[in-house]
Amino acid sequence: MGTDCIAIVPSASYGIATAARNLPVKKGQSILVLEEQFPSNYYPWKRRAEETGAPLKIVAWPAENDWTAAVLDSLTSDVAIAALPNVQWTSGGRLDLVRIGAACRKLGTALVLDLSQSLGALPFSVGEVRPDFAVAASYKWLLGPYSVGLLYVGPKWQGGLPLEENWIQRANARDFSSLILYTEDYDAGARRFDMGERANFALLPAAVRAMKQLQEWRVAEISDTAGALTRHLAEAAADLGFSAPPEPLRAPHYLSLRRQAPIPKELPEMLAREKVFVSVRGSSIRVTPHVYNTVDEGDRLIACLRRFAARSC
Ligand SMILES: Cc1ncc(COP(=O)(O)O)c(C=O)c1O
Repeated sequence: MGTDCIAIVPSASYGIATAARNLPVKKGQSILVLEEQFPSNYYPWKRRAEETGAPLKIVAWPAENDWTAAVLDSLTSDVAIAALPNVQWTSGGRLDLVRIGAACRKLGTALVLDLSQSLGALPFSVGEVRPDFAVAASYKWLLGPYSVGLLYVGPKWQGGLPLEENWIQRANARDFSSLILYTEDYDAGARRFDMGERANFALLPAAVRAMKQLQEWRVAEISDTAGALTRHLAEAAADLGFSAPPEPLRAPHYLSLRRQAPIPKELPEMLAREKVFVSVRGSSIRVTPHVYNTVDEGDRLIACLRRFAARSC
């Protein structure tokens, strides 16, 4: 895949909205999403469903935490679009996108991916998954700045309609003297979907540097390193009554710890006082380490959770 397939966008929501604008949905068809899917990959489909009369088909949280099996079960011939992540963000559940991509192609279902919680920390291959559209915000696992994202657009859709009509996505944009010789032609490939002011000289150098850093570290190694730490944490937290989807059903870099009793909203603040930073999402504690985190830091989290479990953290 060359850079011709990539558009520069400001957010995941912009990429998903681009896909929603271009993918056909007929009455009687449906749009597939996951339960508790991130809002940027939910609201555009809800709107599209309302506009077309195509119902949203929501894959329920699977009892055995197997999101891949649950999606494959729900992929029936009426599904026009499957709008999915690689990692379900409240559970850390991992979807096997190669299998899901193959199933979509068999049915003629378009596959739209929000990779914001995985790209950069979990190996992903456009060539193997063959999505129609795939987007990732850069400020998470791509380690880039806020307000930059990357949108992959499959060759079939590169003649589509962008969300905005700006000058920089046009065929004559490199020749400033001809900008007012208005043209119907867009620049090659996915560049027609580029956002206005895509050449953001404050942000793009940081995004590029961050991606080079990821290439140096290697995504597979980031995944293995984070995986070793979350495995250690999952085992230690299990003794304290927290559960997580087992591997390989969860992504190595993404540990979502749940327990029966609700998690108090003030827990992240209590942990932060101990210099341990996690997020609470729904009824889970999200622990998402990177290569710079150490086993000692992980053990500090466990010590804190132990004190918390004993109500004195
Ligand atoms: C799964 C997922 N997708 C997307 C985003 C960011 O969305 P947007 O770029 O639309 O703000 C987040 C942020 O938390 C996320 O967790």
